[in-house]
Amino acid sequence: MKPCKCQGDAVPTQTNGDRLTPLSQWARGEAERLLAPLGRRWAHTQGVAATASALASLVAPAERDVAVAAAWLHDGGYAPSLAATGFHPLDGARYVHALGHVRLAGLIAHHTGARYEAKRRGLAAELDEFEEEHSHLADLVTYADLTTGPGGLPVNPGQRLAEVAQRYGPDHVVTQALAEGRPALLGAVGRVESRLSQCAAAALGRRLIGAGAS
Ligand SMILES: [Fe+2]
Repeated sequence: MKPCKCQGDAVPTQTNGDRLTPLSQWARGEAERLLAPLGRRWAHTQGVAATASALASLVAPAERDVAVAAAWLHDGGYAPSLAATGFHPLDGARYVHALGHVRLAGLIAHHTGARYEAKRRGLAAELDEFEEEHSHLADLVTYADLTTGPGGLPVNPGQRLAEVAQRYGPDHVVTQALAEGRPALLGAVGRVESRLSQCAAAALGRRLIGAGAS
């Protein structure tokens, strides 16, 4: 087993209000302004952000704020005021990029296998204007999205993918894109769960060592 890379508490803890730094605070405000009128989309977004916050210690301390900010704004492109192409990862990414948040834009553009849908929509080149990062942070954003249902409640990723397919129907581009992307998406979920297991095991080990030393 690779050594646990969690820093701070080995078992992830909630990123509470006084630990949030300005980017995620700004992102929360933007997300609420953009998505609160959309009802369930806002409920889903709040759930995704809560999961990303709860698991933020899986990424390096300097990246936790970015992870939570990306969770808040990953679906921002659904806001009618941002809908230019109608492809929400691209519309949301362009919005935050225009405000100077380059890394955040890349995470939003490529969250949850957006590449597969972009290809079917003829928007792959536009999406590639944004850098796709392959990182624990990107995995965490996708994990949080795939483990949060449309009403904001926790679901397992299989249920989530099945619910989306049922909602859109078998012939819809979203359903087909998720089917193609399923192995990659479940790969990201698996990597996050593996890190969770490693961190939990490391925490238990430290407790046992501490108990033995006292
Ligand atoms: Fe989402």
